[in-house]
Amino acid sequence: MSYQRTLITSALPYANGPVHIGHLAGVYVPADIYARYLRMKGEQVLFVGGSDEHGVPVTIRARKEGITTQQVVDRYHTLIDQSFREFGISFDIYSRTTSKIHHQFAADYFRRLYDTGKFIEQTTEQFYDPETGEFLTDRNIRGECPHCHSAGAYGDQCEKCGRTLSPDELINPYNAVNGNPLTKKATKHWYLPLDQYQSWLEDWILNGHKEWRQNVYGQCKSWLDGGLKPRAVTRDLDWGIPVPVEGAEGKVLYVWFDAPIGYISNTKELCEREPDKYGNWETWWKDPSTRLIHFIGKDNIVFHCIVFPSMLKADGTYILPDNVPANEFLNLEGDKISTSRNWAVWLNEYLQDFPGKQDVLRYVLTANAPETKDNDFTWADFQARNNNELVAIYGNFINRALILTGKYFQNHVPEAGSLTEYDRQTISDIQRSIEELQRLLDVFRFRDAQKEAMNIARIGNKYLADMEPWKLAKTDMSRTATVLNLSLQIAANLEIAFRPFLPFSSAKLRNMLQMDELGWLSLGNMSLLEAGHELGKAELLFEKIEDEVIRGQLDRLARIREENEQQQKAEEAKQWKPSEVKAATDIDTFDKVDIRVATVLNCQRVKKSERLLEFRLDDGMGGRTILSGIAQSYPDPTVLIGKQVLFIANFPPRKMMGKESQGMILSAVDADGQLVVTTVSREVRNGSQVG
Ligand code: MF3
Ligand code: ZN
Repeated sequence: MSYQRTLITSALPYANGPVHIGHLAGVYVPADIYARYLRMKGEQVLFVGGSDEHGVPVTIRARKEGITTQQVVDRYHTLIDQSFREFGISFDIYSRTTSKIHHQFAADYFRRLYDTGKFIEQTTEQFYDPETGEFLTDRNIRGECPHCHSAGAYGDQCEKCGRTLSPDELINPYNAVNGNPLTKKATKHWYLPLDQYQSWLEDWILNGHKEWRQNVYGQCKSWLDGGLKPRAVTRDLDWGIPVPVEGAEGKVLYVWFDAPIGYISNTKELCEREPDKYGNWETWWKDPSTRLIHFIGKDNIVFHCIVFPSMLKADGTYILPDNVPANEFLNLEGDKISTSRNWAVWLNEYLQDFPGKQDVLRYVLTANAPETKDNDFTWADFQARNNNELVAIYGNFINRALILTGKYFQNHVPEAGSLTEYDRQTISDIQRSIEELQRLLDVFRFRDAQKEAMNIARIGNKYLADMEPWKLAKTDMSRTATVLNLSLQIAANLEIAFRPFLPFSSAKLRNMLQMDELGWLSLGNMSLLEAGHELGKAELLFEKIEDEVIRGQLDRLARIREENEQQQKAEEAKQWKPSEVKAATDIDTFDKVDIRVATVLNCQRVKKSERLLEFRLDDGMGGRTILSGIAQSYPDPTVLIGKQVLFIANFPPRKMMGKESQGMILSAVDADGQLVVTTVSREVRNGSQVG
């Protein structure tokens, strides 16, 4: 071990809403597992968190809720902090970027780089709302997505197709707040010239950190291969840390400049509050024997691997991250989690619905952790992992070991006799799982590590099932004692092995076993509980989750999905414009088309077709049948019966789905894509010509 201490940071969540399962799975649970694991090993650890309270997302939220930005960050910082506590995220400090100490520290950091000439100044044209007189940030600009053409895409991303955008790519950009069309206006900003750090970064990451996760290394490589450009570190905005330079009125530090500095200022805040426990903040940030690990989601990779290290390098007195185990995304029931679309399982709501079940969520999120690819959270999987793994394997093993000890040995750990070959095999299987567990934790593979912990419970369960102590007890009490002694030692090992993952359940189990909180090095020891030691009261470690509970969650999501679809339609309708007028034509061309009026006698869906409706028409000329691809716009086609419609009478007949169609019914396309059949403004004779 060449390092002395580990500084663990986890991305500072925006204080613009509560935290959800995606945050927990991607960042906070893995960071917490790692912090707990290192502490159990007796290492020096400092685990930093905090709320990211600047930036545009919080200002948008304030407008939406009709309160001040300060009120927004106060509300959500409190809520987020509480959720993290409730889920056992063991931060040494959870602070916030609106704190005085952070404002001062970040401003000083900027000023130091400014004074030593680390920035360049550039004047560029930015989107501007002439009516309100403000520059717009990416998130406040909306327009049509250039890729999927859905309406209301944001200047930084299209929520529909997920692509990253820049506001310049949007078709017909408008002010997201008031719908105003935008112009461009010149404004001056300070830039960190990342291009000057390019070759240093290439060497540091591409040569020096080949051990980083593939997704992280790959993303860095593609940024570097694309060539780095200067990046603005200031913004025209009235919320944030004022740029500490004369002539910069109305400008603040870009949120991505100040937020990562929050890791440092929060460390400083903690060290100044508890110097005896944590020492000097500079030891954590400047001593090369400190190992710095950033836990983040994949959308933060460029900031933590390229931008922030360049900021640290520009200062020159800081250490650099040793590893950045970034995760991919967690989806929810097949769709991307989204705060703005309320598509999430919020931690505060989860706890209302599942009080006391923090560990169940922690377990499921780690079992499904998006470590190498995006993963999906489904309620069915949540239920299955709880019922089939936590309850049926881990909980069941603990319960049987304790109940049997209560029954046959008055709740005291029985003395073990000599071990059989099978006992020894069981122990060595467990040792192997423990070694693997530790190896996996060391390389940030928490998902597989947790599997190994569960494997220990599986081995214990199989041991009990094979040994059948309830039968042995009828004939051989001394062998029963050995089997239960070993089972209880396995239970004590499970307490330790699962503790980084499931801290609440381990505390409960410690209480049942009446054991001390032992360190990681005790893992693998098969005499953790002495013979004669009295156990506590057996409780259920986990409970089954019933179908109806899961159904309730699915119903809630279905309602949200529906609301979102309606909102998307409304957004599309708001931005709708008629399509371009076609190229010029003339009356002779038009005259060739024979349009007439007919009454719909019957109208029904064509079997096995999603699109087609079959019309039987009275066309005043003996009747005809026309097939029309508008079924999706008319869920109940009988509403058309009796209506007079316009149709083209002189198209050659055409076969569709085995039926002949004799012409075409004219429909208008509405803003939402619905097809609406045309009609006449008063009744006319069927067969009348239109022209
Ligand atoms: N608030 C950002 C997000 O949620 C993360 C900030 S991480 C920090 O994506 F490094 F800037 F702190
Ligand atoms: Zn799109």
